[in-house]
Amino acid sequence: MRLRAPVKIDDLVRNDHKLLGRSERPNDVEVVRAEGSLVHDARGRTFIDFQMGWCVGNLGWNPHAIMQAVRDFDGPSYVNPSAMYPPWVELAGLLAELVPGRVRRSYRATTGTEAVELALQLAMTFTRRRKLVSIDGAYHGNSFAARSLGAGGVDNLLHGCMKLALPLDHKALDRLETLVKHRDVAAFIMEPIITNLSVVIPDLDFMREIIPLCHQYGTLVIMDEVATGFGRTGALFACEHYDLAPDFICLAKAITSGVAPLAVTITTPDIANETEGELEFYSTFGWHPVAVEAAIATCRFWQRHHDHLIGNAMARSSEFRSRLLRMPWAVEPELRCRGLAIGIGLDDARYVERIRQRCQDEGLLVFAEDDSLVMFPALTLDEHTAREGLDILEHCAHDIR
Ligand SMILES: Cc1ncc(COP(=O)(O)O)c(C=O)c1O
Repeated sequence: MRLRAPVKIDDLVRNDHKLLGRSERPNDVEVVRAEGSLVHDARGRTFIDFQMGWCVGNLGWNPHAIMQAVRDFDGPSYVNPSAMYPPWVELAGLLAELVPGRVRRSYRATTGTEAVELALQLAMTFTRRRKLVSIDGAYHGNSFAARSLGAGGVDNLLHGCMKLALPLDHKALDRLETLVKHRDVAAFIMEPIITNLSVVIPDLDFMREIIPLCHQYGTLVIMDEVATGFGRTGALFACEHYDLAPDFICLAKAITSGVAPLAVTITTPDIANETEGELEFYSTFGWHPVAVEAAIATCRFWQRHHDHLIGNAMARSSEFRSRLLRMPWAVEPELRCRGLAIGIGLDDARYVERIRQRCQDEGLLVFAEDDSLVMFPALTLDEHTAREGLDILEHCAHDIR
């Protein structure tokens, strides 16, 4: 094993700031090793990780089967996007078997942003419309188009992106209809469980009706499962909770279990055939051979262990749910939990940030998102480690007022 020389923490902090562009200062965890739900830092500290890279490490860090597949790979270091390459077809075939609904044709991408961008472009090309509808405050990536869909009010799209406000209940269907009824909206995009709004769980009544409603006005439906895909919400894909058959599913993050970057936009044969030759799409590293090995290994792992992974996730989910509701929070908590996508609304962003920081000091990694604590533990999290992490959280909730 090749080891890097240790770096002094003060030098690292100074050089990180001098040399890396970031939107905010990093936390002081200098990761050197990770396995399962544990992260070890250069100061010899061990953290229980309930963040898992925001839905990346669903199988735990350094998952043996996936790492081994990458180590064993002795194929080409690169394949030109215009060539044919059997593992691309193998991975697309596996995805077609795993995803719900009617989508079958995979477009190769590298990041979630790119997968969303591609779905938008395909929808615009297919419908010959320009407008889009998204959920107010959502996040779908960091390109100009994705940022127009999301929070922050930047509308970079020439013809506008309209926003559907929460709550997503049966009344929201009328508001959605008002937005799409002029027959000029190419696509409606959302996460089926909205991780990026600190876990919002839309009503069944709403979700069951969006596809027929949108299709009535010729609007396509994009389900962004970049974060929810691969078991996060207690089903392999969150669309399954609602029996959804969208026109596009976007995947990234946990598709390679965090071992390499890879993303995909999957659409229906109709849309793929109709837009072929019309939409030019080129991605230099879209489905790089090493990342493809990691994704194939992840899909095969899911085929073999689906019931066990979902069973474990649901067992942990109910433990989290009952413990979190009983913790001595300073305010009445609003728990939003589906599988292991967990948000706890606590009313006050400063209070939430103090809890996050104290948890980190005591060896637990959680997210603070505005006035909510957010957690995405590994689906492989064992009962003992879950209890230890929840004990830390409870202790912090008790101490911070
Ligand atoms: C729902 C969702 N869509 C898209 C993206 C963008 O993915 P990436 O960071 O891989 O570009 C993210 C990233 O957090 C996401 O959570």
